[in-house]
Amino acid sequence: MQQNSAKWVIANWKMNPAKPTIALELLQKVGEYCKNQQPSANVVVAPTFLHLSVIQQYLQHNQLDIGISAQNLCAENAEFGAFTGEISAQMLSEIGVQYVIIGHSERRQYYQETEQVLMKKIANALAQNLTIIYCIGETFEQYQNKQTLDILQNQLAILADFQSQFANQNSQLLIAYEPVWAIGTGLTPTVAEITDIHQFIDKTLLAMQLKAPILYGGSVNAKNANEIAQIPLVDGALVGGASLIAESFCQIIDAFSKK
Ligand code: PGA
Repeated sequence: MQQNSAKWVIANWKMNPAKPTIALELLQKVGEYCKNQQPSANVVVAPTFLHLSVIQQYLQHNQLDIGISAQNLCAENAEFGAFTGEISAQMLSEIGVQYVIIGHSERRQYYQETEQVLMKKIANALAQNLTIIYCIGETFEQYQNKQTLDILQNQLAILADFQSQFANQNSQLLIAYEPVWAIGTGLTPTVAEITDIHQFIDKTLLAMQLKAPILYGGSVNAKNANEIAQIPLVDGALVGGASLIAESFCQIIDAFSKK
């Protein structure tokens, strides 16, 4: 998979579901859909750390064309060491994980992940050849104060330090624009807003000599996916809540597989 022009649909399962058997059932349904429909979109699932192995084994055993992502990784060391409770980039890569989400607003907000921490995580992911799904987005207050573009520019700025690495390791970066106020709320920006913001992100990346697919995330569901998928420069979706229901997630994959 992963042809460059194909769009992306990434399931961020967050801390769900509680039982590995339920995660496998969900994957089984999505896997069946992918086998039968052969969607053009690149499909990736991001389970919890604890479920990564079982999900990876299932994907391999059933030869499913679905990528696997972690939701986090250790900032302090890329390999191993005395970091209680952490999981390294190497550990992820050793079990076949190919992607990692970095900078999700829930981690910025609840775990005080600063830009310094995020930069260490990016460096560690790159050291182990993991593709980074880098999340950016403004809070509702920032949106209301019309600070969105400034916030996004600052969040993107840390990528400049890795420009040469990204340039060498073609396609190791995906951007997910996720307005914090749209995550899990059922609210989304207008089509015009998403269009403008994706254009702005593309330009900002170009100014750093970077090029990456730009995904939209925040309350993407089976109902709005068709409309969002048609927006220029929306190269895919990062999906939370709706990715936990196989039928909804498959409809979203379908929307992003249409020409
Ligand atoms: P949501 O979450 O689809 O439930 O809004 C998206 C995300 O946090 O990645």
